[in-house]
Amino acid sequence: MNKIISNNPFYFGGVVRGKHFCNRKSEMATIQADLNNGINLLIYAPRRFGKTSLIENTLQQINKHHIFLDMMSITDEKEFINDYFNAISKSLYTTTDKLINFFKKVLNIRPNISVDFDQTGQAKYSLQFGISEQPDVFKEIVDIPNRYAIHQKKRVIVIFDEFQEIRRLGFEDKLRSAIQAHSDHVAYLFSGSKKSIMTQIFFDKTNAFYRSVKHVPVLPIDAESWIDYIRTGFRNFNKQIDPNHIHAILKISKGFPYYTQQIAYEIFQITAETCNDDHVQQAVSSILDREADLFLFEWENLSTNQKKALKLLINAGGKNIYRKETMEQFGLTNSTMKKAMGGLIVKDVIDLNPDGYYLQDPLFAYYLKNRF
Ligand SMILES: Nc1ncnc2c1ncn2[C@@H]1O[C@H](COP(=O)(O)OP(=O)(O)OP(=O)(O)O)[C@@H](O)[C@H]1O
Ligand SMILES: [Mg+2]
Repeated sequence: MNKIISNNPFYFGGVVRGKHFCNRKSEMATIQADLNNGINLLIYAPRRFGKTSLIENTLQQINKHHIFLDMMSITDEKEFINDYFNAISKSLYTTTDKLINFFKKVLNIRPNISVDFDQTGQAKYSLQFGISEQPDVFKEIVDIPNRYAIHQKKRVIVIFDEFQEIRRLGFEDKLRSAIQAHSDHVAYLFSGSKKSIMTQIFFDKTNAFYRSVKHVPVLPIDAESWIDYIRTGFRNFNKQIDPNHIHAILKISKGFPYYTQQIAYEIFQITAETCNDDHVQQAVSSILDREADLFLFEWENLSTNQKKALKLLINAGGKNIYRKETMEQFGLTNSTMKKAMGGLIVKDVIDLNPDGYYLQDPLFAYYLKNRF
C-alpha cells in the first residue's frame, strides 16, 4: 500500500502505529509477558484513551496467533457467532482450503460456510444455521481457538475489544462456561471503555467472570515521553516548541492521549516556526468550540443533583467533597450528594484516584471549569 504523506506529525482518531505511537513500554511488556504465560487479562480505560492502539502494537510483537473481535457493533448472539467466526477464520489460516480442511477435522457440526471477497480481496466468512442449531454452533465456534491451539501445539491469544457490550448481549454466563476450560491453551484479553460495567463483570462475586483475569492498569502517558514525542514531531518539520508549552498542553489534557495529540495537532497547524503562548490558547479554544455541542449534550444528560455535584467536585478540586459547608453551598445534602456521585460513577463521568475524585474526560473538566 502507498503511504499517504501527512503535513502534520500528530494524529488523532483511530488506532496509532509506528511513529505516531508514544511510549506505553511498561504496559506492552506486562501484556506480552502475561499473554505468553497464558494469563487472562483485563484492560479498561475511557473512550479514546489508546486501548486498541496499545493492544495492536503489543500483538505485533508477539509471535503467536491472535484473534481480535471488536464487540461494539454486535447486536445479538447470532451476529456474535458470525463475527467471531469471521475473525477466527481470517486469523488462523491464510488460504480458504486450509481453513476448511481444519474445520472439517475439528468441528463436530457441519455448518454451511460461505466466503465473500470484497474489492480489496479481503475474505469475509459467514455461517448459515437455523435457530435450533444456534446453541451447538455457539459452543463449537467458541471452542475453535482451543482446538486450534491443541492442533498446532501453540498458545492462541483472543482479544475481545469493547467487551462491556456483553452485558447488552446477554450471554455472559454461556461465554464464560464455554471458555473456562481453555486456560491451558488460550489466553484471553478483555478490553473495555466502561469501567463501571467492566469492574462489575470481573469483580462482582455474583458474575460468571468473577476474578478470572489480571487487571493491567492503563494510565495517562507521562510528561517526559510527551515532551520527547511532541518536540521531535515539531523538529522533523523544522518547527520549535519548548517544554513550557508542552506542559501547558498537558495541564489541560492531563496526558490523555487523544486530547494531547489533538491539541498538539492544532498548535502545529497554526505555528509557522516557533510555538508561543497565543498558539496554545488559540488551539485550545478552537478545539473547545468544536467539542462544545458534545459537552453540552453530556451536561444535559445529567440530573440536577449530578450537575450540582459536578460543580462542587470541580470547585473543591476533587477533595473533601462531603464537607457539610461545601455541600450546603451547592444545595446538596449528604444523601443527595452520595446518590449523585453514585450516578456520576455509573455514567463513567467521574472516577476516583489516590488524589481524589476527577472527571474522566479532562477536556470536559476544562470546559466546565471555564464556564462556572
Ligand atoms: N500510545 C499512544 N501514543 C500517541 N497517541 C495515542 C496513543 N494511544 C492513543 N493515542 C491517541 O488516542 C487516539 C485514540 O486511540 P485508540 O483508538 O487506540 O483508543 P481507544 O481507547 O481504543 O478508543 P475507543 O474507545 O474509541 O475505541 C489515537 O488516534 C491517538 O490520537
Ligand atoms: Mg478502541
